[in-house]
Amino acid sequence: MTIKRVGILTGGGDCSGLNAVIRAVTRAAAIQYGAQVIGIEGGFEGLISGQTQELTVKSTKDILTLGGTILGTTNKGNPFQYRERMEDGAVKTTDYSGKAVETFNRLNLDCLFVVGGEGTLEIGYQFFKKGIPVIGIPKTIDNDLEGTDYTFGFQTAVQVACDALDRLQTTGRSHDRVMILEVMGRNAGWIALEAGIAGGAHIILIPEIEYDIQNVIRKIMLRKKGGSPFSIIMIAEGAKERGGTTVKAEEAQGRLQGVEKLGGIGFHLARQIEKQIDLEVRTTVLGHIQRGGSPNSFDRVLGTRLGSFAVDAAVQGKFGTMAALKIPDIVLVDLRDLAGKVRTVPLDSQLIRCAESIGINLGREAM
Ligand code: F6P
Repeated sequence: MTIKRVGILTGGGDCSGLNAVIRAVTRAAAIQYGAQVIGIEGGFEGLISGQTQELTVKSTKDILTLGGTILGTTNKGNPFQYRERMEDGAVKTTDYSGKAVETFNRLNLDCLFVVGGEGTLEIGYQFFKKGIPVIGIPKTIDNDLEGTDYTFGFQTAVQVACDALDRLQTTGRSHDRVMILEVMGRNAGWIALEAGIAGGAHIILIPEIEYDIQNVIRKIMLRKKGGSPFSIIMIAEGAKERGGTTVKAEEAQGRLQGVEKLGGIGFHLARQIEKQIDLEVRTTVLGHIQRGGSPNSFDRVLGTRLGSFAVDAAVQGKFGTMAALKIPDIVLVDLRDLAGKVRTVPLDSQLIRCAESIGINLGREAM
């Protein structure tokens, strides 16, 4: 089919590489097919409000290295269940999906590129079922999407976390302290595991393996007895103690996003350790620093490949799909097969085996 006018939106939390995708879609659509590109602002909110901007080769010329998204994004604007805070503080939920479809039709678009994580792609799939020709593009620092080997944004976040660990090693060694770094990832341990291995962590605690505090203490004591009185611990925000629950900075209830905010497990772990050993413990929570800044070269290339491939897929009329990385290729997978799925670190993965085989403690007896 021919494409004359295509739309693109970015949804969910921002990450490095979103602008690389926007630029690639704009350039491929304009250069290959002479199509006009409309950027929908603020994620799906822009489909409700009709707020858009035209994207051109010229207007996107300097954004490849830019962090964030020039279109803006939100992780609370699901048009099917739009949550608004009323004057009395209560949260009201409305279905604006019909309005969003109207906007899409009024904009006279041949296709909508939906760039996002699991939540955003799920909404994209619902719109596909309502008749909008959607093609998804996978992003998230968490790397927790089914169907793709990597999401863009992940490798940059891993690099940021690894750099932070390198710096914490300095204070750990100088002061003989236990240094804890808490990283993002929601219920997946990909960032913690990869950055922990890259940064030489001695203990890595991930959501997929509930930790036993006595194993953590034993590892620290073993290191101390062996002449290394400092230890570096990488912990994922979604990690939890055996038999315990995740530590939440805020409960889902009452939040506009309707999802809980994770955070604080690093401080909990520090308290547990300090109770049992006489070493000083310090916790750093890396937070949104992992999502910001310029994408590394891997994420620039991945974002560009996904964007360019998605445009070709639109011309072939392959809607209801997501462009995905199956190393070494970019392929299409059905959005239907991804709905509601989250990819955590498999317990039998080589990454886990690799970490334990070199003596990294994962909070359990090594397998
Ligand atoms: O999904 C990406 C992510 O950064 C998670 O790792 C984290 O738990 C969450 O988003 C934080 O969301 P927010 O920006 O709403 O605090």
